[in-house]
Amino acid sequence: MQSLSGEHRSFWIESTLPSSYPALTEDISVDVAIVGGGLVGITTAKLLKQAGKTVAVLEAERVGSGVSGHTTAKISALHQLIYADLIDQIGKEKAKIYAESNQAAVEKLASIIQTENIDCDFSRQDVYTFARTLDNVDKIEKEIKATKALGMPAEYVDQVSLPFQIAGAIKLPDQAQFHPRKYMLHVAGTLAEQGSHVFEQTRVTTVEGENPCRVKTENGAVVTAKDVVVTTNLPILDQGLFFAKSYPKRSYLIGAYIEADKAPDGMFIGVGEKYRSIRTTPTDDGRTLLLMGGEGHKVGTENNTTERYQNLASDLTTDFGIHAVDYRWSSQDMVSFDKLPYIGRLTPMSNHTYVATGFSLWGMSKSVMSAMILSDLILGQSNPWADLYDATRPTPFATQTSIKENLDVGSRWVGDRFKGIFSSTEDLQPGDGKLVTVEGSKVAAYRDEAGSLHQVSAVCPHLGCIVDWNEAEKSWDCPCHGSRFSYEGSILQGPAVKCLERKDAS
Ligand code: FES
Repeated sequence: MQSLSGEHRSFWIESTLPSSYPALTEDISVDVAIVGGGLVGITTAKLLKQAGKTVAVLEAERVGSGVSGHTTAKISALHQLIYADLIDQIGKEKAKIYAESNQAAVEKLASIIQTENIDCDFSRQDVYTFARTLDNVDKIEKEIKATKALGMPAEYVDQVSLPFQIAGAIKLPDQAQFHPRKYMLHVAGTLAEQGSHVFEQTRVTTVEGENPCRVKTENGAVVTAKDVVVTTNLPILDQGLFFAKSYPKRSYLIGAYIEADKAPDGMFIGVGEKYRSIRTTPTDDGRTLLLMGGEGHKVGTENNTTERYQNLASDLTTDFGIHAVDYRWSSQDMVSFDKLPYIGRLTPMSNHTYVATGFSLWGMSKSVMSAMILSDLILGQSNPWADLYDATRPTPFATQTSIKENLDVGSRWVGDRFKGIFSSTEDLQPGDGKLVTVEGSKVAAYRDEAGSLHQVSAVCPHLGCIVDWNEAEKSWDCPCHGSRFSYEGSILQGPAVKCLERKDAS
C-alpha cells in the first residue's frame, strides 16, 4: 500500500489564505444576486459589474471552496473524447459551436488574467488525450478525425513527455492551466465596492418571485434583485428538474512533489475506465507539484473510497517512481445526460432566474463560458452559443417517466437498504459509519476515532433518498442527486439546503 500521509485537503485551498467576507445580516437590493462563489459565480459577477450592474455574491461557505476549489484546473476545449460523439449526436454545426465556445472561454479567462495582471500561476499548455494501449487507439483516431472536421488545430502524436509508453494521443496546442483559487480570490477582491458585495457563510435557501426576485437566506436576510444566477453545482432550486437530467459523479486527485526536470510538459488525460488526468503546478516555495486524478464513479456506488486514492498512489509509484503522496482530495460534478451543460433560464417561464450546471467534469472552460452567456442574457445582448446550451431544452432523459424513476430512487433506497440492516451501533468500529434503525427511525451513525458516536437522520432533506457512507471523506453522501453532509449533518454540498437532523446518540 502507498503512503497517503499528506494533507487530506485540496492543494488549491491549502496554498491560499482563508477569505473572510462578512455574512449577510440585513436585507439589501442589487441588480443581480449570484448564488454561489465558485468560478461561474465570481466570473459572472465580474462581467456584470464591469458592465455597470451592482451584484451580490452569496456563498454558503467560503469563496472558491466548493467544486471550483477541488478541480485539476485545466482550461481546455479538448474534453477527453467528446467531438466524435457530439457530431453523431447533434451534428457538425452544433459540435463546432461547442468547440468554439469552449475555446473562446479559454481565451476569455486568459484575457481577464492578463489584463488585470492576476497572479494565479496561469500558463499556456498543450493538452493531450492519450491511449496507453493499442486497443484504445481507434478512439483517438476517431476523435482526431472529428476535431479536424470541426477545424480545430488538433494533431496526432505518438510520443509525449510522460514517463511511460503511450500508443497514441491527440494534441491540442495552446490551452492553459492556472491556480483556480488564487484567481477567484483576486476577482472576488475587486467586487465588493460601489454597491456590490461578496458575502460568505450565507446559505441561500430559496428564490421567490420574479421582477423583483427575493433571494432568501438561512438567517432570514433577503436580497432583492432584478435577476438571480444560481451557480451551486446542481441548482438548489428544483423547478428546472436538473436533478433528473444529470447525475452526480465523484472523482479523486492526489498531489506529490516531483523534481522539476522529471515533470511532464503539458496537461494529459487518458482514455478508458482507468483514465488518469495529469498536470503539474508550480508552488509558492519554488517546487513543482504533480497532480494525478481519476477513479471517477457515480455517487453512492462505491463503498471503499479510500481504495480510490490508493489506486492513484499506486500509479504514481509505478509511472513516476514517487512513493509518498503530499495532498489528496476528491471532487464531485453533475454529468449531463446529453453531454452538454445547462446554461440559461431556470425554466421556460423564468425571465430573471438563471442557472449553470451539468459540466460533466470539464468545469473550467464551461464555467467561464457560462459567465459569458449568462452575463449576455442578463444584459440583453445576443450570444451565439446560448441556444445550444439552453437550460430549458428538452433532453432525452427529461421525460415524465425518467423524472418519476429518479424520484423513485429515493423510495427504493429507503425500502431496500434498510432490509436486514444493522439494528445496533454496538459493532460500529472507530472511524466507521453505518446505517441503523433506531426506534423505527432511519439513522446514519458514525463512531469517531475517540469512540464517540455521532448520529444523524439518514434521510436526505432534498427529496428523501437515503444517504450513503463515504469512508475516505468521512461524509454522508446522497446517491440520488449528490448532496453531501458531514458526519455531524452539516451540508458539504447541495442541492440540499437543510442539514441532516441530529439524533440523540445516547
Ligand atoms: Fe436529492 Fe438527496 S434526495 S440530493
